[in-house]
Amino acid sequence: MRNQKKLLTEPDKLIRIAEKWGTPTYVYDEQVIRDRCGTLRSLFPDLPVSWLYAVKANDNPHILNIIREEGFGFDTVSYEEVLLCKKIGAKSRDIFYTENNMTDSEMAGAVRDGVVLNIGSLGRLESYCRSYPKTECSIRIKPDISDGHHSKVDTGNEDSKFGIRMDLLPEAQSIAKSHSVKISGIHAHIGSGIQKPENLLAEIDTLLEASGHLDDISFINFGGGMPIPYRPPDEDFDLLHFRDLAGKRLAGYLKNKNGAIRFFFEPGRWVVGPAGLLLTQVNTVKDQGRKVFLGTDTGFNHLLRPALYDAYHEVANISRITEPGKTYDVAGNICESGDILAVDRTLPETKTGDFLAILDAGAYGMTMASHYNRRALPAEILIRRDGGSKIVRKRLTAEQTIEAFLKDTRYQPKESS
Ligand code: LLP
Repeated sequence: MRNQKKLLTEPDKLIRIAEKWGTPTYVYDEQVIRDRCGTLRSLFPDLPVSWLYAVKANDNPHILNIIREEGFGFDTVSYEEVLLCKKIGAKSRDIFYTENNMTDSEMAGAVRDGVVLNIGSLGRLESYCRSYPKTECSIRIKPDISDGHHSKVDTGNEDSKFGIRMDLLPEAQSIAKSHSVKISGIHAHIGSGIQKPENLLAEIDTLLEASGHLDDISFINFGGGMPIPYRPPDEDFDLLHFRDLAGKRLAGYLKNKNGAIRFFFEPGRWVVGPAGLLLTQVNTVKDQGRKVFLGTDTGFNHLLRPALYDAYHEVANISRITEPGKTYDVAGNICESGDILAVDRTLPETKTGDFLAILDAGAYGMTMASHYNRRALPAEILIRRDGGSKIVRKRLTAEQTIEAFLKDTRYQPKESS
C-alpha cells in the first residue's frame, strides 16, 4: 500500500484532477504538509527550538502561507525569496536570509526589510559591518562536515564555496567588533538529503563548540537536509532517534549557558517532498528493441532531479489497477536523450492516454522547472483539508507562453504569412 500513501489521494480523484486541469500538473496535499509541520513542531517540546522552512524547496505562495500558519519561519537564500515571504505575511524577524554572493543592493534591501542576515564570507561581513555599524548579523561557517544525496548538494565539505572557514572565526569576530557589530547567530548547512544522521549530529557538536568562540551568540542554526525515502525499500529518516541524540546535546549545551539561546533547523524537502506529485499523460508508447519508452507530456524542464542528480522518483500508473507486468523507461518530451524520468520500471501494461503520477515531487520539482524548449510550466493544484481541490497556479497555453516570452524580450512580433 506504499503507493496508496504516496499517491496522496485516491487514483480516481487524481484522474479527475488531470481531466479537469490537464497535464502536466503538480498536485500538493495541504493536510500532509500541515501534519509534517506538526510532527517537527512537537519534536523538542522542552527545548527552545524553532523551525524555518527552506523556501527553495517549494515556493508556491499558497504553500508558504500554510507553512506560516503552522508556525514556521522561513529560510531564504535570495532577496526575491525574502520579498516573497513578506508578501505572504511573514514577519521580518521570522525571515532568515542566508546570503551567497549577495550584491550590495540585495544587502541594502535585506537591511531595509529588517530580516535576519546570515553572512557567508569575510568580505561580505566586512562590507556589512562598514555599512551598518552597531547592528547585528549572523554568520555561516564551513564546518568541513558534509553529506547529501548527491555530490552536487553536499555543502559543508572542505572545498565547498559556502560559509566562512572555522580558522577564520577570530578574524570574523574582530571585523565585527571593530564596527561594534554583534555576531548574534551562527549557522551551517551540511547538505541536502543527508545519508548519515551522524554527520548532522557532528555538525551540531561543531556549531555548539564554535559558538563558544563568539561573544554575543543568541541563536544557533543547524541548517536543513533531513532526507525522505524515495526508492523502496528506503526507510523514513528516524526522527525520534535523531531527536533523542540531538536533544541531549542541546539540553547539555543550555545547562552550561546563562542567557537566552534559540536553536533553529531549516528543513525544506522533509516538509514538502512527500506532499506533492507530478501528474503527466502518456502520449507515445514506443518499442525501441531493448527498451520500451512511455513518452509523456512533461520532462526534465518540469522535474529536473532525475537528469541532474540521477534521482529516483517512484512512478505509478493511476489509470490501471492491473498488476505490474511490463518494464518501461519513462521519457520526457524534451529534445535531449538525457530527458528520462525513470528507468526500468515495472508497471501495468500502459497505453497511450494513461495518466502517470511521479511521486515525492513536492520538493525541488516546480521550483527548479524551466521553460526549456520554450515549453509552458506545469499547473499546480492544492488538495485542501476539506478534500476539495483548488488551482494554485495555472498552466499557460502555448500561445500565452510565447506571448509572455515576446513581451519579456521586448520583441515586436511580425505576422507570418
Ligand atoms: N538551508 C540551506 C542553507 C540550504 O541551502 C538548503 C538546501 C536547505 C536549508 C534545505 O535543505 P533540505 O532540507 O531541503 O534538504 N535541488 C536539490 C536540493 C538542493 C538543496 C539546496 N539547499 C534536490 O533536488 O535534491
